[in-house]
Amino acid sequence: MILCKSILELKNLLNSAHHNGKSIGLVPTMGALHEGHASLITACHKENDLTVVSIFVNPTQFGPNEDYEKYPRNLTKDCQTADTAGADIIFSPKPKELYPSNDMTWVEVTGNIVKVLCGRTRPIHFRGVATIITKLFHIINPDKAYFGQKDAQQVEVLKKMVKDLFFPVQLRIMPIIRESDGLAKSSRNTYLTSEQRKAAVVLYKSLQYAKKLFTVGERRPQTLISAVTSMIAAEPLSHIDYVELYGLPGLVPVPTTITQPVLLAVAVKFGETRLIDNIILEAE
Ligand code: PAJ
Repeated sequence: MILCKSILELKNLLNSAHHNGKSIGLVPTMGALHEGHASLITACHKENDLTVVSIFVNPTQFGPNEDYEKYPRNLTKDCQTADTAGADIIFSPKPKELYPSNDMTWVEVTGNIVKVLCGRTRPIHFRGVATIITKLFHIINPDKAYFGQKDAQQVEVLKKMVKDLFFPVQLRIMPIIRESDGLAKSSRNTYLTSEQRKAAVVLYKSLQYAKKLFTVGERRPQTLISAVTSMIAAEPLSHIDYVELYGLPGLVPVPTTITQPVLLAVAVKFGETRLIDNIILEAE
């Protein structure tokens, strides 16, 4: 595995691969790698000749009061995890390499898709994500890029961006990897106290409960939302940011009866730590 810190170095490495017709897969990450990230890297390794993993805590997707400074960084450990999972190249540039000047060009998906769910409290987040992913796609020119369903809104935004801007890349979306009690793996789980960690399992439990209701025929969005909301609210350490339900693809509003696949998504704070989770409900 090669660790590469500059764009020039990376392009030199990838030029010969492109020339020799080798397929290139990209797994964009912000580091603090866990089994969720590792599952994307392993899938990428299986489906491509060369697996590039980017590790970059992207400053432009963090709001002014968010955890950019505090975000966990451990490149040595991340390199080991990525290597074991099947990475060939780690691209870990300094912020100045990807953002060389303050005069910025942004890539911004617009509309409902970035205004609902996390977009409501994180107004600049998806512009930062779309911009950094565009930069990585242009530098690396991957055949396939791997993202987790854990960040469901990010997936919808990036699908829209790739379609609208004709990026010649196939997006591969991988399932959510969870702890044994169901909590979705996240780099931010390390911020939780042991009481908060125990309480946080309510996210998964409430989504499973909604799935059960859906499976036995419940099709009213508001009933599903209320069931999840009251279950999470019953957990004293939780502070609900949102419990929402939108149609897929594109996070479109759902009428009074569900007739298409829907995303049921939650964001809940435990102390200062905000966790997200989601489930897709789809009739068999
Ligand atoms: P990060 O939070 O590091 O996540 C990198 C990728 O890992 C994302 O596609 C995310 O959905 C996926 N992932 C995280 N936890 C997961 C889990 N439990 N199961 C499956 N996949 C999981 O998402 C970002 O970074 C950034 O926004 C990025 C796309 C890198 C742009 O900066």
